[in-house]
Amino acid sequence: MSKYLVEDTRKVTTQRFAEMKRKGEKIAMLTAYDYTTASIMDAAGVDAFLVGDSASNVMAGNATTLPITIDEMIYYAKGVVRGVKRALVVVDMPFGTYQVNADEAVKNAIRIMKETNADAVKMEGGEEILPAVKRILDAGIPIMAHLGLTPQSINKFGTYGVRAKNDAEAEKLCNDAKLLADAGCFALVLEKIPAALAEKVTKSIDIPVIGIGAGVNVDGQVLVYADMLGMTADFKPRFLRRYADLHTIITDAVGSYVSDVKACDFPNENEQY
Ligand code: KIV
Repeated sequence: MSKYLVEDTRKVTTQRFAEMKRKGEKIAMLTAYDYTTASIMDAAGVDAFLVGDSASNVMAGNATTLPITIDEMIYYAKGVVRGVKRALVVVDMPFGTYQVNADEAVKNAIRIMKETNADAVKMEGGEEILPAVKRILDAGIPIMAHLGLTPQSINKFGTYGVRAKNDAEAEKLCNDAKLLADAGCFALVLEKIPAALAEKVTKSIDIPVIGIGAGVNVDGQVLVYADMLGMTADFKPRFLRRYADLHTIITDAVGSYVSDVKACDFPNENEQY
């Protein structure tokens, strides 16, 4: 059993998220997709995990988040929930599970909550998805909203560049943030937008704003764990800080194992029966 690095080991709830915003305590969030990694990161004090549809890229090697299915998301989320004792667990609703109509959206959100035992779902988009957001909230399911660069719309945007740099897009983003907060979403992710705009949105709504590539003047940060641990060596966006070089550590360790096996140096006398 690993030792918890944080003193407060009470389960993080959506109410605690609201309290953290009120008290000005920053929220540290990471993605997670499996039991073992989630349990290590939970004990290190992460406040919330996102079982992101970035699993499509990180776990399955797809170029975008679009192909991942609800069955695959549920599989990843079940492992994470089993590994996490303290953090809040949010599961991305994958592309195609909430855009058709509100009835389908609420059915899929209920399925995710029932089968994974997670704490909330996340959805990308603003006014366009408001009817689905309202139905899901009415079913008692907490929603983390997501604006700015919304990767499920990559085919509309054409690039993964910074969003909301022009006035029209910035104004729509501010309006969408207000609509989603007023509807009752418990938190909002802002991805890859100018820091000044993220600060303005953060000050204008009561719910916590979690940034990724959105500057420091928000209520918390989220990163893809494989990126911040340096597993994805070729992915180098400006917003990413690497806290480890696991790519090198894993390569060296696996290389040593291969050499030892080839040289009949593994297993030794103490490693056999
Ligand atoms: O799927 C994901 O990992 C995300 C984060 C980048 C916010 O949506």
